[in-house]
Amino acid sequence: NIPTYIKIVEVGPRDGLQNEKTIVPTHVKVELIRKLVYSGLSVVEATSFVSPKWVPQLADAKDVMAAVKNFEGVRLPVLTPNLKGFEAAVSAGAKDIAVFASASESFSKSNINCSIEESLARYRAVTSAAKKLSIPVRGYVSCVIGCPVEGSISPLKVAYVAKELHEMGCFEISLGDTIGVATPGTVFPMLDAVMAVVPVEKLAVHFHDTYGQALSNILLSLQMGIRVVDSSVSGLGGCPYAKGASGNVATEDVVYMLRGLGATTNVDMGKLLLAGEYISKYLGRQSGSKTAIALNHI
Ligand code: HMG
Ligand code: MG
Repeated sequence: NIPTYIKIVEVGPRDGLQNEKTIVPTHVKVELIRKLVYSGLSVVEATSFVSPKWVPQLADAKDVMAAVKNFEGVRLPVLTPNLKGFEAAVSAGAKDIAVFASASESFSKSNINCSIEESLARYRAVTSAAKKLSIPVRGYVSCVIGCPVEGSISPLKVAYVAKELHEMGCFEISLGDTIGVATPGTVFPMLDAVMAVVPVEKLAVHFHDTYGQALSNILLSLQMGIRVVDSSVSGLGGCPYAKGASGNVATEDVVYMLRGLGATTNVDMGKLLLAGEYISKYLGRQSGSKTAIALNHI
């Protein structure tokens, strides 16, 4: 009983490009976003308003936003780690934002330089500022299965952070297997714990494909009632904290699987393949999507 429509949240221009060694020029990012929007994706995460010292790859957030903010028929959320980032995002024209917390104390420190509780306090300030401007806020929980430092993460910790994000007003909470260590065996208890405290309609899953388990994890999540899936065109990216890590699950592969399951996505595979081909060619490497390779769009 897979739902008929699955929303895909394309995160390639943000999660993908933030992890690429090459710093991609602004006009290439803008063209990639344009091609992704043209393929029918309804949500394309565009960039992050974070410290350029921490993520130099996305230091051009303001220019990217200026170029894409009037694209029609699409939501273009951006990551904001604090009020400073929120204000910069709003000035640049962002109409959707996302905040990102972690279920692992060590990852919270290494990613945003504060504890989980401190981050939740910052995000309460961001969500209440966003509410005044009627800006929808998505919440992320990172390290929902494992952390590069702490190892396995308890599902109860994930449920706690997800519940806090939900209570502060996030309309959707994306559960991230940041380093891609999940299997269906660990996803089940995690989702079970989170679904006990946040309604399943508000949840999304975000798998990185380090061990090749992402599609299996997505299938299980769909069977458990999840309707929102994050993915990255061509499987862009990697994770600086996990050796040999690949990027997010490839959007082309997710669309291919969903078609096979009889679910709709409103994404045109041909146009999506062209977006993937564009960025893979720019980066000078083969696509991280098996579907793209099979269909000869490398
Ligand atoms: P900090 O060093 O503790 O910040 O970093 P601070 O408040 O002490 O400020 C230090 C400097 O940064 C100051 O500048 C601030 O103005 C500046 P200076 O006076 O030294 O010139 N600053 C900023 N500049 C631009 N934009 C801002 C901003 N805030 C402060 N928003 C901070 C703390 C959170 C800023 C930093 O750690 C940071 O930017 N982290 C972002 C890391 C990141 O983007 N990680 C990747 C996204 S998360 C992810 O990928 C996981 C996900 O995909 C889900 C999953 O896979 O699980 C979402
Ligand atoms: Mg991610």
